[in-house]
Amino acid sequence: MSGEKLKVGVLISGRGSNLQALINAASVADFPAKIVLVISNVADAQGLARAQAAAIETAVIEHKNFTSRERFDDAVDKALRDAGAELVCLAGFMRILSDPFVRKWEGRLINIHPSLLPAFKGTHVHEQVIAARVKTSGCTVHYVVPELDSGPIIAQAEVPVVGGDTPETLAARVLETEHKLYPMALRWIAEGRVRLENGQVLLGGR
Ligand code: GRF
Repeated sequence: MSGEKLKVGVLISGRGSNLQALINAASVADFPAKIVLVISNVADAQGLARAQAAAIETAVIEHKNFTSRERFDDAVDKALRDAGAELVCLAGFMRILSDPFVRKWEGRLINIHPSLLPAFKGTHVHEQVIAARVKTSGCTVHYVVPELDSGPIIAQAEVPVVGGDTPETLAARVLETEHKLYPMALRWIAEGRVRLENGQVLLGGR
């Protein structure tokens, strides 16, 4: 079946625990997607070692070596195309991608965000959630569009906020759920169950 698997590129900047969840899912024979390349913009990102341990090709493309965001994005785009990637998963990738890159990959570029979007966009998400005193948080897998954290939502999962939570305890609880949601969403896409119509995600059966 490996010839039919959806070829996925993953972009990371750090720890790579979501990458690990995708690697683990993809290691099961019947998983319909295969990670063909992991790119990091940070040379010592922990996620690179995770990919290497799973014998997945890696590339370090450091943004600081490029004179503009567009040139950096072009290098990332070329590496993804050379690897034959058909879908790109952002997994803790801490760079804003330029509009031309996002448009080129629109409908084939997804991200995981640690809140129930459209609430709590941006950074310091768990701090925002605790300050707002909401009782429920969660995570969202969504298509990426030029506007940050605003693309069509593919899947969401709720996580309770409990008394005494700190950003760290809440982040850890949300992260456990991220590790289930991201592989599930990737599976749905690879199985052709996710349709994007007029900026809205429609989920179909198998
Ligand atoms: C995750 O919380 C993810 O939702 C956010 O960045 C974090 C990355 O963590 N986009 P990791 O590198 O996958 O461990």
